[in-house]
Amino acid sequence: MSRVLVTGADGQLGRELRKLQKLFGQDYVFTDVAELDITDADGLNRYLTSNPASYLINCAAYTDVDGAESEPEKAGILNRDAVENLKNCLEAFPALRLIHLSTDYVFPGDRPHPLKEDDPTGPESVYGQTKLEGESVLHGHPRAMVIRTSWLYSEFGKNFVKSMIGRMDRDDDMMVVYDQVGTPTYGEDLANAIMQIISDVESGQSSFIPGVFHYSNEGVCSWYDLAMEVCRLAKCKTRIFPIETADYPLPAKRPAYSVLSKSKIKQTYRVEVPHWRVSLEKCINHLL
Ligand SMILES: NC(=O)c1ccc[n+]([C@@H]2O[C@H](COP(=O)([O-])OP(=O)(O)OC[C@H]3O[C@@H](n4cnc5c(N)ncnc54)[C@H](OP(=O)(O)O)[C@@H]3O)[C@@H](O)[C@H]2O)c1
Repeated sequence: MSRVLVTGADGQLGRELRKLQKLFGQDYVFTDVAELDITDADGLNRYLTSNPASYLINCAAYTDVDGAESEPEKAGILNRDAVENLKNCLEAFPALRLIHLSTDYVFPGDRPHPLKEDDPTGPESVYGQTKLEGESVLHGHPRAMVIRTSWLYSEFGKNFVKSMIGRMDRDDDMMVVYDQVGTPTYGEDLANAIMQIISDVESGQSSFIPGVFHYSNEGVCSWYDLAMEVCRLAKCKTRIFPIETADYPLPAKRPAYSVLSKSKIKQTYRVEVPHWRVSLEKCINHLL
């Protein structure tokens, strides 16, 4: 049975992968920084020498989008330099394949059409820039796949959906931007897609195709629409009002439009892409 090593596995996506592992045939091993620090090149080499793996899913990242503006070095070490370490592992371990995660924030967000993998990038934040630099490290590698996702939420960790639900009993008002448009991604759906890809490659139903792929849920919404839907489903008392980005300044600039086209991943692999409303309801049912 092939072994799949997951790094950064205590985060949102990592914990969704843990949740689903029994549904798939591979031997999944989950690590986070305490067991395996991806910024430690020698440690990674030692770990993979003693624990050979066929796949490495890298969920570790510096994901504090606003924090990165004041900590660019820290963000760069994890989002770019550590990816160099992972690439070096691909050289040292020729049977290893890497699935690395990236973000819609590599795009400037100034083109209102579904973004394809080869559309021009142009991050407007330190987080987006460091994630793009991490992608570039893997560019053209025959055993590396990069999956860009957007607006990730899950039952685990900190995210927009959970913080909205956390306010459900509070009878106060909330302002949410309506001029940033994208698509949420339920971590369970993304975890399922990644595990399905590995399972299909292992069973010979598909080949491992390297390169950049996009995965989010289907459909389109603004953060305001998402907040309204969370509140409707969770029966929040909070009243939500639409505001413009200019009225809610944050340290990091976000793309105004970052809907990802999923055509490539759907055509290449047998992955399911549910509509965001369907998946949101599923997640909220798990949470409540
Ligand atoms: N969250 C989003 O909205 C979003 C959107 C688009 C793309 N993505 C991308 O999707 C991927 C997964 O995101 P996520 O939300 O699941 O991230 P997350 O919840 O922030 O999880 C990242 C995990 O990596 C761990 N980590 C930190 N430094 C590490 C190190 N040196 N070695 C090993 N592990 C380390 C973190 O531990 P600590 O918590 O202790 O630091 C955390 O458990 C990332 O590549 C992210 O850029 C996320």
